Amino acid sequence: MNYANILKEIKPTKEEIAKVHNIANNVLETIDKIAKEENISVQPSLVGSIAKGTWLSGSSDIDIFINFPLETSENELKEKGLFLAYKTSEAIGGVAEEHYASHPYITTKFEGSEIDIVPCYDIKTAEELKSAVDRTILHTNYILKNLKEKQKDEVILLKKFMKEIGVYGSEFKVGGFAGYLCEILILNYGTFENTLKNSSLWKKRTIIDLENYKTEELFDDSLIAIDPTDKNRNVGAALKTQKMGEFIAGSRNFIDNPKIEYFKPIKKDKKNLNPSNIFKKFKDRESKTLILSFNIPDISIDNLYPQLNKTAVSLKEKLKHEEFNVIDTSYWTDENKIAIILIELDTWTHSKYQIHEGPKIWNKKASDEFLAIYGNRCYLQDEHWVLKRSRQNKTPEDFINFVLKRENIAILKIGKNLKDIVIDTYNLIDIEDLFSKFTDSINENENENDFDFDNSSDNFIDSNNSNNSHNFLYKGNIDFLNFLEDYLNPGQKIKR
Ligand code: CTP
Ligand code: MG
Repeated sequence: MNYANILKEIKPTKEEIAKVHNIANNVLETIDKIAKEENISVQPSLVGSIAKGTWLSGSSDIDIFINFPLETSENELKEKGLFLAYKTSEAIGGVAEEHYASHPYITTKFEGSEIDIVPCYDIKTAEELKSAVDRTILHTNYILKNLKEKQKDEVILLKKFMKEIGVYGSEFKVGGFAGYLCEILILNYGTFENTLKNSSLWKKRTIIDLENYKTEELFDDSLIAIDPTDKNRNVGAALKTQKMGEFIAGSRNFIDNPKIEYFKPIKKDKKNLNPSNIFKKFKDRESKTLILSFNIPDISIDNLYPQLNKTAVSLKEKLKHEEFNVIDTSYWTDENKIAIILIELDTWTHSKYQIHEGPKIWNKKASDEFLAIYGNRCYLQDEHWVLKRSRQNKTPEDFINFVLKRENIAILKIGKNLKDIVIDTYNLIDIEDLFSKFTDSINENENENDFDFDNSSDNFIDSNNSNNSHNFLYKGNIDFLNFLEDYLNPGQKIKR
């Protein structure tokens, strides 16, 4: 495989590097200047993949940390840190947005770059650690010291490969490999190819311990990559077993048949994203697919995704408990207004009655009590008293509408910020009805073949936040259609 050619495409060019470093230097100098004016003693520094020279062309997220002396109180760090960050953003003409990691930081958008400005403590070793973000400086220094110039290219190849097979990024939405984890893998295995050769044989509880700390017993994760700067932290802790598995499978596929296509996004036929084709595929499965949609609360994306996941898992569990067999669930959000949980079922109607099982005949006291409540309707099935009772919820829709009432919501393990907003704004629709509404809206307007994808969710759903009034008007939010297509074709990314 000619990696030099691939690197030409994915490594930042000299111009790109100069531009990003110019912006970064400008931010660093501005922080310095404002801090001096305001008499705040701090040390700004460039960290993350830009500082380490391990970033992919086109993904210039600039990580800048403001180091406060260790004796600064947490409140002061937060207050002065945000103050400096906002003032800096303003001074360079950026558009600032506040976020929360273990403490608040801001992201500012400027000339096509996203700059994270994060206040932290100026620690020299992990023992001094006060907040999780403090490690980042130690990571940056460790990589700068230990990663050889040539190995930076290997990191870039690995990141790009992981990105295109869908396993790169430690944010909850992906649950994949962090940039720092890729660097650790290259330090451990030397090259991109050798990493894949090894990962294709990974077992559960694979241990990577660059500094020989031997602290693996502290961790109960599928991949244990002990942080070389902190023996008490596993850099692989956020990696979902699913994503580790996909990486192993992708590695095996690549080793068996290396192709340049692994470094490019998978080709999606535009036809596959056509709503009527997607609908045909759902129909062909002869299953029942429900779309539960609701507005999202005003919380960070990193907080929202785990709550969507928790809610979807709980719905699946409760539906199974009601004897509705769930094939799978998935979730999606436009990260702006709306989220949906998709539930695909392979049983979805029950008869009128269900057998209600009571105590065993051997226990006279319990039997008497049971008979006192249900009387003549009771009869014996083997050693158990039973009776036929009318089912409360004969369909999954009945059940979902039942649990999403305020008085029943405790049955569900729902994300804590989702509870009220789901109850107040949810809409439940069969995917069949959704698509017929969608097709109606196209037929009214235009020819289906001239179908124009629309990226805004304003057109996606006509919702005024009023109770149960999500009126679906699918004009084809491309991201949503992509989500449905991915759902229909799981695993398509790991093979070329
Ligand atoms: N970090 C971490 N663990 C995570 C996410 C981030 O330790 N799960 C730290 C790492 O030290 C990382 C830094 O925060 O270098 C910046 O995070 P991020 O921008 O996500 O990673 P980069 O290494 O900069 O990689 P990328 O090229 O994806 O930006
Ligand atoms: Mg980064």
